[in-house]
Amino acid sequence: MKQTNPFLILDYISPEYFCNREKETSKIISALNSGRNITLTSIRRLGKTGLIKNVYYKLKNEKGTKLLYVDILKSENLNDFVKVFSDVIVKSEHKKLSVKLTKFISGIRGKIVFDEYTGMPGVEIGLSDKEESELSLNKIFGYLAAQKERYIIAFDEFQQIVNYPEKNVEAILRTHIQHQHKEKFIFSGSDKHMLISMFNDYGRPFYQSSDMLHLERLDAEVYTRFISGHFKNVNKTITPELIKFWINEFDGHTFYIQYFFNRLYEKKEKKVTDRLAHNTFAEIITEREYVYLGYRNILTRLQFNLLRAVAKEQGVSKPNAGGFIRKYNFSQPSSVNKAIKSLLDKEMLYFENGIYKVYDVYFSKWLERN
Ligand SMILES: Nc1ncnc2c1ncn2[C@@H]1O[C@H](COP(=O)(O)OP(=O)(O)O)[C@@H](O)[C@H]1O
Ligand SMILES: [Mg+2]
Repeated sequence: MKQTNPFLILDYISPEYFCNREKETSKIISALNSGRNITLTSIRRLGKTGLIKNVYYKLKNEKGTKLLYVDILKSENLNDFVKVFSDVIVKSEHKKLSVKLTKFISGIRGKIVFDEYTGMPGVEIGLSDKEESELSLNKIFGYLAAQKERYIIAFDEFQQIVNYPEKNVEAILRTHIQHQHKEKFIFSGSDKHMLISMFNDYGRPFYQSSDMLHLERLDAEVYTRFISGHFKNVNKTITPELIKFWINEFDGHTFYIQYFFNRLYEKKEKKVTDRLAHNTFAEIITEREYVYLGYRNILTRLQFNLLRAVAKEQGVSKPNAGGFIRKYNFSQPSSVNKAIKSLLDKEMLYFENGIYKVYDVYFSKWLERN
């Protein structure tokens, strides 16, 4: 099926719709092929998942290699982890469910079920306690080890395991991962500090068990050429200056850039003018306004005003400094510190390279203007 809008905002299709990341892709493949695991970090919505899919696209025809992509974002405990993991294994064999596989699933007290619409198999597992889940994990890793192929396993949103209520999940997983000889792992997540300390703090189970790759924003020149090329393909005119302006406006944050150009591409006009671009962005913001207004009800007044101040400054390095506090009429550094911490926890703000920024770039622009 031909993709009608080349600016993808949901899933990965192929390199044609994926801008660059060539160095990162090679780096990951090279680490895996040399027997090293790799950990990928960046803020949310910058392109980690896309990059993993791009790596898998390149590896998909490699003989003797099987690729598993396990997104554990929604998992809340070890039992969920077992369920998601075994589900991915079963789906990866959907063309032919072997007796071995079926046996293995019942061995972890699971059941293979088929989606009534797609016919795709999946795994159902009842609740189990920590000991049972650990036993199931043993069996899963045992199953993979017994296959002749080598598996590459990506755990996306890996920082989630720290939130599981069970104790020592890190140590349990670490032991398994260490003992897999042919399997290699990609760990990916947006909580950079958590992942860095997990893999680099002496004494933590995953200490030095993986290379680290921190994903940066796409190069603006390269991204401009990518965007411009897709407009040209359908004989639409757009200038590099206009593209660069909006890349910069959205602080190089991939998802927001993709979404904006997706909307702009859909317009019937053959020539993209500044006015058309501004109108398109105004449309997007208007559609989201009720969500932004709703934030006022779930945040304290100080939190909301802090977000606005950070947006107006387009990032702040020391929100508890006297100058900033006076300029925006905040009361005390201690209450500002508390509000900042809460906004970081809610992922309304993020902290990177010494600067606090509003996570949602569109919301940030809306705050700046209102
Ligand atoms: N290099 C790229 N070129 C084009 N689109 C990309 C690229 N990287 C990511 N995207 C798009 O940006 C959005 C966010 O990327 P994603 O990989 O989901 O981010 P993350 O996993 O870091 O949260 C997705 O819609 C994805 O399709
Ligand atoms: Mg992701």
